[in-house]
Amino acid sequence: MEYSLDHLGSIADRHIASLHYPTLAPGLFEPVKYTFTTGGKRLRPALCMAVYAALSGKAPEEIVSQASAVEMFHNFTLLHDDVMDRAEVRRGLPTVHVKWNTATAILSGDAMLSLAYEMLADGAADRFARLFAIFSKTAMEVYEGQQLDMEFESRDDVSVDEYMQMIALKTSVLIGCACSLGAEMAGAATDIAAKFYEYGLKFGLAFQMRDDWLDTFGDPAVFGKGIGGDILCDKKTWLRTMATAAAPAEVSAISGEKLAPAAKIEAMTTLYRKLGLDKACDEAARAYSNEAIAALEGVTMPDEAREFFGNLAIKAATRDK
Ligand code: IPE
Ligand code: IPE
Ligand code: MG
Ligand code: MG
Ligand code: MG
Repeated sequence: MEYSLDHLGSIADRHIASLHYPTLAPGLFEPVKYTFTTGGKRLRPALCMAVYAALSGKAPEEIVSQASAVEMFHNFTLLHDDVMDRAEVRRGLPTVHVKWNTATAILSGDAMLSLAYEMLADGAADRFARLFAIFSKTAMEVYEGQQLDMEFESRDDVSVDEYMQMIALKTSVLIGCACSLGAEMAGAATDIAAKFYEYGLKFGLAFQMRDDWLDTFGDPAVFGKGIGGDILCDKKTWLRTMATAAAPAEVSAISGEKLAPAAKIEAMTTLYRKLGLDKACDEAARAYSNEAIAALEGVTMPDEAREFFGNLAIKAATRDK
C-alpha cells in the first residue's frame, strides 16, 4: 500500500469521475463536473482512506465511496462559500457563481450535499447509522462555523479564542470527520478513533491558519485563489485578530478609511508585516501541526503510515497551495 497524497487522491478522483448523475436536468450537474475537473488537493479523502488502511491493513479502495463522500461535501461547501465570500477565482479558474450565477451555485451545491449522503451509504448499509451520525454532526458544525465567520466580518472585537473556535468548526471538524470515518470503517476501538479525530482537528487548525496566511502572503498563480479577499471582506483571520490586539488604532484607521481595494490590501498587509505577524502566524500554524502529530503517539500503525500522517501535518502549515 502506497501512502501518498497523489496515490490516494487519484483513487478518489477516479471514483468521482465514474459517478453517474441523474439525466433529467443535466445543467444541475455541469458545475459539479466543472468543480471536480478543476483540481483540488483531495486531502480529505486521502486522509480518510489512509486511516482506514493504517488501522485495518486493507486496501483503501474498499472505502473509496465514503472517502469521496467527504470530498463531495467539501466541494459543496466551497460552492456556497464562494458566494458568501464574494470570491471570483478558485483553483485558478472562475468560481461557479461567476461562471454561471448565484442560483446555480446554490442549487448545484444542494445537489452535491445529497450526492454526498448517497455516497456515504454506498456499500456500508450495516454501518450507516453511525456514519450518518458522524457526518450530520460534522455538517451542522461546518454551517455554524461558516455563520460565525460571516458574523465576525462586522465585528471588531473578535478574540483569538473566538477565531480558533470558528475555524475549528468551519474547517477542522470536516478533516476530523474524514479521519473518524476511516477509523469507523476499519472497526477501530473508540479511543483509537478519538486520537485520529484529534489529529484531524489539530491538522485543520494548522491548515486554516495557513490558508489565511496564503490569502494575504501567497502567490496567486500557485495558490489559485485571489489574494487579499479576506482583507477586503474584513474577515477575522488570525492575522487580523492579532493585529487588532497589537495595534487597534492602526487597524481601525485602515478599515475605516474608504480606501480602494488594492490600497486597503496593501495597507493591511504592510501593517501585518510591521507587526511581525507573517512570521508569528507561520510559527503558530506549525505548532498545531506538531500537536496533530503528537495526537497519534501510542497508536499502532505501519511506519509508512505514521510518516505519511506526519509529513501531511507539516504540509498543512507550510503548503503554498
Ligand atoms: C479550501 O480547502 C477551504 C479551506 C478549508 C481552507 P482546500 O485547500 O482543501 O481546497 P482544495 O479542495 O484543495 O481546492
Ligand atoms: C473555508 O474558509 C471554510 C469552508 C469552505 C467551509 P475560507 O473561506 O477561508 O476558504 P477559501 O479560502 O475560500 O477556500
Ligand atoms: Mg472562502
Ligand atoms: Mg469562507
Ligand atoms: Mg481562505
